[in-house]
Order: sequence, then structure tokens, then C-alpha cells
Amino acid sequence: MAAGKGTRMKSKLPKVLHLLAGRALVQHVIDTAAVLSARQVTVITGHGAPEVEAAITASTQAGSQFDLNFVRQEPQLGTGHAVQQAVPVLRDDGLVVVLSGDVPLTQADTLTQLITSCAGDKLALLTIDFANPTGYGRIVRTGDAVQAIVEQKDATPAQLKITEVYSGIMAVPAKQLKTWLARLDNKNAQGEYYLTDIVKFAVADGFPVVAHKIIDAAQVAGVNSPVQLADLERAYQKRVALQLMEQGVRLTDPARLDVRGKLSCAQDVFIDVNCVFEGVVSLGEGVKIGPNCVIKNASIAAGAVIHPFTHIEGGEPGSKNAVEVGPGALIGPFARLRPGAKLGAEVHIGNFVEVKNSTLAKGAKANHLAYLGDATVGERVNYGAGSITANYDGANKHRTIIEADVHIGSNCVLVAPVTIGAGGTVGGGSTVSKDAPPLALTVARARQMSVANWKRPAKK
Ligand code: UD1
Ligand code: CA
Repeated sequence: MAAGKGTRMKSKLPKVLHLLAGRALVQHVIDTAAVLSARQVTVITGHGAPEVEAAITASTQAGSQFDLNFVRQEPQLGTGHAVQQAVPVLRDDGLVVVLSGDVPLTQADTLTQLITSCAGDKLALLTIDFANPTGYGRIVRTGDAVQAIVEQKDATPAQLKITEVYSGIMAVPAKQLKTWLARLDNKNAQGEYYLTDIVKFAVADGFPVVAHKIIDAAQVAGVNSPVQLADLERAYQKRVALQLMEQGVRLTDPARLDVRGKLSCAQDVFIDVNCVFEGVVSLGEGVKIGPNCVIKNASIAAGAVIHPFTHIEGGEPGSKNAVEVGPGALIGPFARLRPGAKLGAEVHIGNFVEVKNSTLAKGAKANHLAYLGDATVGERVNYGAGSITANYDGANKHRTIIEADVHIGSNCVLVAPVTIGAGGTVGGGSTVSKDAPPLALTVARARQMSVANWKRPAKK
């Protein structure tokens, strides 16, 4: 269900598209359904339907195992009405798990247990005890047997005291669900079609109703406001940080880590505070990440050190644009690695150095204030402070090739396409627009001259 408005978000963006850990709320729910091997995922949209449908279609991979379809609920007349819209696309032999697009942190394990309770022939409700159950549907029981869910606004004073509430999640055989949905009415305090009314129909039909009670509130917590969104973001991040630490990763402060994608770490990885990982990132054995780094779509090999305030922004994971940092490389502080940066073993990239679509072979160094774009850099090259590759002529990009053991002085401009031959040296301040031969000293700047006894102009 993803048709609700989300008024309290006070945002133009439909509620279910707000991001948690870099993914839309509703995407978390869909991804969890995928883990359950659902054969079909049906999203009920309403408010902002075109935007919600487009976003989900774009982010659900082509190779996904389930059929994705959308049904619209316009206007929104309640949760029962919402699920009624899906009836034409639900197959009679199926088991339906009803989820909310704004409840992102339900674990797949919990849903698997709920499905096991349902067993294809029961109505299974996910429930939880809340010290303050205000606003939730109460689970009304006689003895142990569930009799009904009564909504807050329809409850008697005695029912309001019940602390066991309905989470909004159920598993139910499709065939029975359809017959009960057909019997819903809106004769209640809110004039809505309540999905929760199907419980009393099941009881009347003698169909078994079971409750699967959990204790972890985050798993059923919904997002209605920016405050709740931030709370769940922290709950999510805490979960990720604990998993990493259980694998042996050392985090200076688990409360100051943000993983917005998939982070995998080998043994003895250390991550300092305020780092953000996006997309797919892998860190090899013994990698150290300094404070305040932002790292996206990169694989960083064993022993590399990423010093503080480094920004790594690889392109699509697994593509040639993903960033690679070789074993033992030293990057930063304040370095910037852009799509297609491929750094070999023991490469050094220092402060205020930007690398884009360039390959640096083993031991190459660019330690200060430099730009390498569309360059192929050989082993042991030393690339001086302030030097740049002029890779763009205003229309096309061209490559710069710097062969092994070259020294580029400070403040050089290498006008691509250009090749600097192996072992060559380029004098500081040179603008090199023609190929430079191997082993030569190449100087391309005006010759120094001095005017003896130069008199500065005097004020009249
Ligand atoms: C519902 C349950 C309540 C339960 C609570 C848990 C009903 C009648 N009540 O409450 O027992 O304790 O969830 O959070 O089901 N939605 C639609 N279309 C609609 C109405 C809602 O798609 O017409 C979606 C909302 O966007 C949301 C979800 O359904 O994702 C739940 O709706 P919400 O209004 O939050 O739940 P309540 O009705 O208050
Ligand atoms: Ca409601």
C-alpha cells in the first residue's frame, strides 16, 4: 500500500519516495518482498501515482525474479479499499502478504515466520505490544483466540486498554481474502473501508486467525514525519554498524557511520567517524578510512589508506567507471577520485588532487594540487604540484600518456593528445603540446631573461 498522502512530511515528494539509507521507503519494502521470493509484487498507488510508479520501475532491476505491477486507488477510501483495487491481479492460488510502503525496516525473517504461521490456510496477523497503543488497531481476543481488530476511533473504553496492536502487516490466502474484501463496508467512525474488518469475517466463517507477535518496534514503525524518518534512518544505520562490527570491522563511533548501499569489508578494516558509503563499496584487508570521507562505487584493495575528507565517486558498480584503488595506495587528505579512476599498487594521491578516467600504474605519485583527466600514467611517475592535463578542447576529450619513470615538474599543462616518453622530465611551468621523447628534458616556456639595473617607474 503506497497510496497515502503523507501530509505530515510537509513535502512535495510523495511520502514513500523519501529516502532512507539512499533508497526510497517503498523500495525497501519491495526489496524485502524480493528476498521472500515473491512471484508478484503489486504496488497500490494513489497520491503522486505517476511519480511513485516511475521511480519504482526505474529502480527495480530488469532481472528481478518477480512480476511488478501497479494498481491505482483513487480516491483513497481506506486500507480495505486499497487492497480491493488489487483483487483483479491477485491469483487465487497465491498467498498475499500485505505491507505498507512507509514501513521500511521489516526484516525478511519476520515475514518468513509470519508466512509460516499462515501456512496457506490461516489468516496471520503481525502484532506487537505497545505501552502506548494510541492510534493503532487493537487485537481483541477471547481467551487466546483472536476475535477482531478494532480501530482506535471505534474502540470501547475497555478495548482502548488493550496493548496488543495490529502492525499493518498480514499474510492471508488470496482466495479467502477476496471473499472477505467483497463484504467490507464503511459503517464505522471514520467512514473508511477497513482492511482490518476481514478478521471478523474470518472468525464468522470459522477460518483460523493467528497472531505472530514480535518485540522489535523498529520493524513495524511507519514514517509519517521527518522526525520519524530520521529515527528510522538511525535505527537502520545502527543495524548496519552492528553487523560490520560483528564481522570485526572497527568503527570509531557506530553512531557516526552512514551506509547507503552495500559495504563489504575484509579483515581488520578501520573506519573513522563521519564516513558515508554509497552504492557498492568493498574494502580489502587492513584498509583504513580516515574521518569525513564520502566513498561511492569503489573497490579499495588491501592495505590502502584513505586520509580524511577524501571524496571518491565511482560510476555504475562493476562498470569501467567504478573506481579502483590498488593495494597499499595512499589517498588524500582532500583528494577527489571521479568515475574511471584506476589506481595501481602504492599509488599516492595527495591533497587537492583530482583524478578522472585515468589509470595510474604502480608507484605513481601526484601529491599536491593537480588534475589528471583521461590520462594513462606509467609506473613510478612523479606528477608535480599544480600540473594538469588539458584533456578537453571544447568539443572532444583527448588522452594524455605519461610513460614510466617520467617526472612532470610543477605547474605544467599537458595539452592532449600528447605523450611524454619513458624516463623523460618536463621542466616546471611548461605547456607541452607536442610529444616529448623518452629520457629527454623537455622545457616549453619562455627563456628566463634579466634586465640589469632595472629602474621601476617613479610616481610623478
Ligand atoms: C492501519 C490499521 C491499524 C494498524 C495501523 C498500523 C486499518 C483500518 N487500520 O491504521 O489497525 O494498527 O495501520 O500502522 O487498516 N493507505 C492506502 N490507501 C488508503 C489508506 C491507507 O494506500 O486509502 C496506505 C497508507 O499510505 C499506509 C497504509 O495504507 O501506507 C496504512 O494506512 P494508515 O492510514 O497509516 O493506517 P491506519 O488506517 O491509521
Ligand atoms: Ca487512516
